[in-house]
Amino acid sequence: MNRNELARIAHAMVANGRGLLAADESTGTIKKRFDKIKVENTEENRRAYRELLFLTPGMADYISGVIMYDETLRQSTKSGERFADLLTRLNVVPGIKVDAGTKPMPNFPNEVITEGLDGLAGRLAEYHKLGARFAKWRAVIDIGEGFPTRTNIETNAELLARYAALCQEAEIVPIVEPEVLMDGAHSIERCEQVTDEVLATVFDRLFAHRVYLEGIVLKPNMVISGQKATNRASASDVAAATLRCLKRHVPPAVPGIAFLSGGQSEAESTLHLDLMNRSGPLPWLLSFSYGRALQQSALSAWGGATANVAAGQREFLKRARLNSLAAKGKYESGLEKQAA
Ligand code: 13P
Repeated sequence: MNRNELARIAHAMVANGRGLLAADESTGTIKKRFDKIKVENTEENRRAYRELLFLTPGMADYISGVIMYDETLRQSTKSGERFADLLTRLNVVPGIKVDAGTKPMPNFPNEVITEGLDGLAGRLAEYHKLGARFAKWRAVIDIGEGFPTRTNIETNAELLARYAALCQEAEIVPIVEPEVLMDGAHSIERCEQVTDEVLATVFDRLFAHRVYLEGIVLKPNMVISGQKATNRASASDVAAATLRCLKRHVPPAVPGIAFLSGGQSEAESTLHLDLMNRSGPLPWLLSFSYGRALQQSALSAWGGATANVAAGQREFLKRARLNSLAAKGKYESGLEKQAA
């Protein structure tokens, strides 16, 4: 394992106000996004949509890396350049989702476990050949009455650590993503309590598996009220609680933290990131790895029409630019009103 190379890539993924585009929706998940804009879920439409994002002029100023799905990593632009080659040429690191999604956890109703370790070493070697230099594995922790359980948290954390060790062995930077969901009606305090326990457990297992912390990127949820909570905590409360939680558990050896958006609106997820970066100095770089919060407006503006590709790209570039400002603590909510 070349530790210097892992640390260099991990740092590049979060440095200089740039962040990650999570465009790794599985074929099933992208169908949900396409259904909303009445676009048929064909391989060509998926390719055309990813091409729209990746060919957005100027996106590399704000986007350091792109997480792709297996199919996308093997696809090319209309003019025949492989997506991985295009991104690498633009100084954007190609990444790959390697987990196989979640499955119900036997004996633990309401809880899920992420699958995908079987054959992972072989797949990582192939992905490296195809140009991927980082990977993603998402563990999902839900909050409700009587869960998450200790067993669920420990099992998910163990799997994340084994995945991370396998990635580093293959010279691929692991994005370690333990997502505490914001579905449900729980309070921000409950989210903080659960996120505390999850992060403590994840770093314990990373240590146990001898994962090189300088060569990972953490992708956590923000500490936030559940979507259905009646009194949702303010933006400044979210920023304070999230930082408190991260400072307790994430060693400064970790170069950066790239948040998921998790169902927050585009503007909310940008504001929260900005507030955290304004309360520095912080021991790690804080950036974004958003899926929905970078793509919602772009998808609507595009709507599957070739004539709207430029409009979709303008919306994507706007979100990328505003999140880049937030990654530097220089975002203003007034900027939302500016035309894309
Ligand atoms: P969201 O930002 O839409 O939560 O997606 C990020 C992601 O990659 C989830 O795994």
